[in-house]
Amino acid sequence: MVKKTSLFCCQECKTTYTKWQGKCDSCQAWNSIVEITSPYNTQKGLAAKPAQPIEFVSLAGSSENAERISCGISEFDRVVGGGLTQGSAILVGGDPGIGKSTILLQIAAAISAHSTCAYVSGEESVQQVTTRAKRLGLSMTPVQLASANNIRDIAAALDVPTPPRLVIVDSIQTMYLEDLESAPGSVSQVRACADALIRLAKMRGFIVVLVGHVTKEGTIAGPRILEHMVDTVLYFEGERGHQFRLLRATKNRFGPTDEIGVFEMTGAGLKQVENPSILFLAERHNDVAGAAVFAGIEGTRPVLVEIQALVGTSTLGTPRRAVLGWDTNRLAMVLAVLETRCGLNFAGRDVYLNVAGGLKITEPAADLAVASALVSAILDQPLEADTVIFGEIGLAGEIRSVGNNELRLKEAAKLGFKKVWLPTGKSAEKAKRVNGDLSPIDTRCIQKLNEILRFFTSTGTNVLDRKGTTR
Ligand code: TYD
Ligand code: MG
Repeated sequence: MVKKTSLFCCQECKTTYTKWQGKCDSCQAWNSIVEITSPYNTQKGLAAKPAQPIEFVSLAGSSENAERISCGISEFDRVVGGGLTQGSAILVGGDPGIGKSTILLQIAAAISAHSTCAYVSGEESVQQVTTRAKRLGLSMTPVQLASANNIRDIAAALDVPTPPRLVIVDSIQTMYLEDLESAPGSVSQVRACADALIRLAKMRGFIVVLVGHVTKEGTIAGPRILEHMVDTVLYFEGERGHQFRLLRATKNRFGPTDEIGVFEMTGAGLKQVENPSILFLAERHNDVAGAAVFAGIEGTRPVLVEIQALVGTSTLGTPRRAVLGWDTNRLAMVLAVLETRCGLNFAGRDVYLNVAGGLKITEPAADLAVASALVSAILDQPLEADTVIFGEIGLAGEIRSVGNNELRLKEAAKLGFKKVWLPTGKSAEKAKRVNGDLSPIDTRCIQKLNEILRFFTSTGTNVLDRKGTTR
């Protein structure tokens, strides 16, 4: 007989407690702690089963490569490491309404052309999904469609000798196991349902894709609580107002995690974007102060993106520092270096920074482009339109070298840029050699951050004094 042990979990921060309390010690939230029951306690459970000693195999014995299924949507296949791996569990997270169901329906349709594929919707009726499929022009594809919420019913259909090779469950927060008392979407339900589906997938060898809505608050458990249970975690991101959507792998047992897939939301579903740089730079105005083009790398792919800065006089006691698509702490650091090493004064000024197109940049290589956009904004002088920039900034104001210079330069040359500001050093030399084979790019090596100021003083007079900023 299994002893029933209860656990209590905060729905906000997921801290667990052995007894109930009104306030979470960890996140200080009130009334956020609920009882969670392990599924093992309600079923016959682990202890009821006679123990079977596990078997050990050698590393060589388990190195057989699992088969991969490619869906033919190259942006998706690349993010998952070259196709979905047989028997793997994938979690697709994202804000509600961002396009998870749309892309998964498109993937299901693409895969059903050469493999069996089932799509179980817990949110929409069969008719709603077929209407969407019609709109996407996918009605004629042999996807097996169902609308269900009960995990036992779903498992009964899949626990067969030849289940579909890919099963999509949309979304895990709408599924429930009758054994548990808590409501669908609660931490215990989400965990238990995911656990049941993942076990079945491993046993029967099908690929299971679980959809999880990102929830900011409330009692619906978010996809983060499932991240440790699955093999691959993909997040579908994007700004609602923008048409771009990014698919990013944050965990991948079968491939790299730094790849992104870029899609565009159109009236007829999501279209993959093979050259994101063209899209991210599409609405650029060349003669505006405060804009700089950053030559970045996302995964294995170069991506050129515009960084926009706006500096204005602040009416607040503490000036605003608003950032979209970049790290606030990193902006604070770049501002401090600009003030200390370049004599620019941002005190009493609001600073806004935006990465155009809704992309989120995490690379330190963006520092120099951000600094250039800020200098351009505060001096009210546009940068030369045919310039791309990359380089990391150190606290002493030095520009540090970054990786993948050649890829960055090739992409810039491809898109017609003529000048590049980059860190000095071996990498720059190498970059110049690459440059020799391509269209002529003028490489301007920057050693210290204050060197960029000279690119803004076309007349040779001290712009900084003329604009009234202090040295
Ligand atoms: P959906 O895939 O339902 O989002 P999620 O499953 O992540 O909650 O996407 C819904 C949004 O996508 C909705 O606002 C409408 C938009 N959309 C299009 O713009 N074009 C399309 O062809 C489709 C199907 C949806
Ligand atoms: Mg949906």
